Amino acid sequence: MLDKKMAQALNGQVNKELYSAYLYMSMSAYSNRIGLKGFANWFMVQYHEEMFHAMKMYEYIQRQGEDVILKSIDTPPDTFKSPLDMFEQTLAHEQFITRSINELMELAIKKKDHATQIFLEWYVTEQVEEEDNDNEMIAQLKLIGDNPQALLMLDRELAARLVTIPVDFSKGVDQAA
Ligand code: FEO
Repeated sequence: MLDKKMAQALNGQVNKELYSAYLYMSMSAYSNRIGLKGFANWFMVQYHEEMFHAMKMYEYIQRQGEDVILKSIDTPPDTFKSPLDMFEQTLAHEQFITRSINELMELAIKKKDHATQIFLEWYVTEQVEEEDNDNEMIAQLKLIGDNPQALLMLDRELAARLVTIPVDFSKGVDQAA
């Protein structure tokens, strides 16, 4: 059972996660456009991660007997100043998502909704990892500066990132292979 306000807030988070996927898809497209295929891969993997976050929440709302109501997704930016700019925008966006998850948790605590608190813990942990990854990338890109050779080496490294979460949700996020 979900409180109506809680269900509405969780639906809002589905939209934010879908926007995150859209944003990283746009960054992937931009990376490809400027010849950085490894960055394009990294952001496309991130796109899949965000779709997983959205679908995990989508399922939770339904399992709690509430309706998923999808709203339009904002248009993401389509050009960026540099790879560093992309990761700085990524970090800023993830900090926004962290605040949003924290607000959901505060609402769940206020509503004495223990199930949603336990559910949201996964997202709390995930946000720490996401911000940490972005900070690491920003630090590396600052070290690289204007060195194209070092940038291409990092691009090759990012090409190796693999999708480790389910991407087919037709049987549900837990059953997806
Ligand atoms: Fe779904 Fe990147 O937070």
